[in-house]
This record gives sequence, structure tokens and C-alpha cells, in this order.
Amino acid sequence: MTLIEAIKERHSVRNYLDKPLEPEKIEAIEKLIDEINTETGLHFQLVTDEPEAFDASRTARYGAFSGVRNYITLIGPKTKTLEQDLGYHGERIVLEAQRMGLNTCWVGLTYRKILGVYELGDDEKLLGVITIGYGADQGERRKTRPPHCLSKADVEEPPKWFKRGVECAMLAPTAVNQQKFMLTLEGDTVYAKAGKGFFTKMDLGIVKYHFEIGAGTENFMWG
Ligand SMILES: Cc1cc2nc3c(=O)[nH]c(=O)nc-3n(C[C@H](O)[C@H](O)[C@H](O)COP(=O)(O)O)c2cc1C
Repeated sequence: MTLIEAIKERHSVRNYLDKPLEPEKIEAIEKLIDEINTETGLHFQLVTDEPEAFDASRTARYGAFSGVRNYITLIGPKTKTLEQDLGYHGERIVLEAQRMGLNTCWVGLTYRKILGVYELGDDEKLLGVITIGYGADQGERRKTRPPHCLSKADVEEPPKWFKRGVECAMLAPTAVNQQKFMLTLEGDTVYAKAGKGFFTKMDLGIVKYHFEIGAGTENFMWG
């Protein structure tokens, strides 16, 4: 499965089967996480077989999820770019998981923080988790804003690579499907801007990764 296929097939999945992750899949996810953490200084961690964070019996707030036993923590140092960095690199993990036949969901709010199952340094923040496992379903296609609401160009007919980038950005998960971002083409530079609101910077990191896959990084520079 290519990354573009993974982008098209991925939907948020909130209901999971009681089927554990195979050791080789755990190993592959941990290897990717190690690479990303080493490269970026972020502190993603895979937590397996931990049902408490999404235990629906405790409060209705967690009711939208079922069967969650594995998740990846969104942790990193308290820097100005933390949200965007977690978004960008977290989506790398999400799309790889999709290619491995697993399902995921970004979760900023509707989970419980369980102490002792992950490491959190004094200079670090936990901003959410990504659930991971075998979905009871593959999720559903959802509505998206049209390209002209999410992008602008300084030419009447934008290049194909820009259109392909925007198409992939439209399929990026954003908190409550808010899609509060704008991609602007000026020459061969693309400016990505987040709107105001919760998690819009994390969304922007996710959107930028999708845009790069669709557009091809050789075709443009980020402004
Ligand atoms: C940063 C971020 C935070 C999110 N937080 C939650 C959450 O707390 N609870 C939840 O059920 N879904 C959450 N989601 C999932 C979004 O609702 C979902 O991605 C969006 O509706 C688009 O649907 P799709 O992922 O199927 O394309 C979050 C998504 C993102 C990107």
C-alpha cells in the first residue's frame, strides 16, 4: 500500500476488536517511534494492553470509544512548535499503521491520563494519544470543505502538484473535523497557516505531512 492509498483508506476508528497486536507489528511500530524520537527529540511511546484510558464504564465521556487497549502517547518537550511537530510526526505513525492493516484515531480530549504507563519528563507535555489496533470497522468517509475554502494560489491555474497536495490535505484528520487551515501558493513556495481554535496547530502538522505526500517535496518549499 502506498502512502497515498493509506491517506485515502484511513478514517478515524473508535471501536476495536479484542485482537492483540502481533509481536512483529509492535516491533515495527516501536522501531518507527524510536527513529522519529531520535530524529526529532519528541517522546512518542507505544502503550499496549492498557484498557483504562478508554474505560467506558467509568464515565459517559469515553463512550464513543470501545475496545481500545493500545495507544501512542503524544509527548514532547515544551517548545513553541510542539503541537505542530507532534501532528506531523504522529501522522507518519498513523499512515504506517494503516499500511500494516491497523486502524487509528487521534484523541486530544476524550481519554483518561493513566499514570505509570508512560514516561513524562519535567520539561515535557502530554497533549493526547493516538488509539491503535484492529478496528471493528474501517471507519467512514466524512464531509470535507472544498479545495477553494482550504487553498489559494497566485496563478489562475495552479500546478497539478499543488492540487494533488491540497487533495491529500483535505483527507487529513483534524480535531472535530474543523479543517481550519489555509494553504497558499506563491511562486514555488507554499505557506501553511492554522486558524484559531483548539488543536489547530496539531492539525496543521498533520495537514503539512499529507500535503507533502500529495505534492512531492521536490516541487516546492515551505514558506
Ligand atoms: C488533533 C486531533 C484531536 C482529536 N481529538 C479527538 C477526541 O478527543 N475524540 C474523538 O472522538 N476524536 C478526536 N479526533 C478525531 C477527529 O474527530 C477526526 O479526525 C475528524 O472528525 C475527521 O475524521 P477522519 O479522521 O475519519 O477523517 C481528533 C483529531 C485530531 C486531528
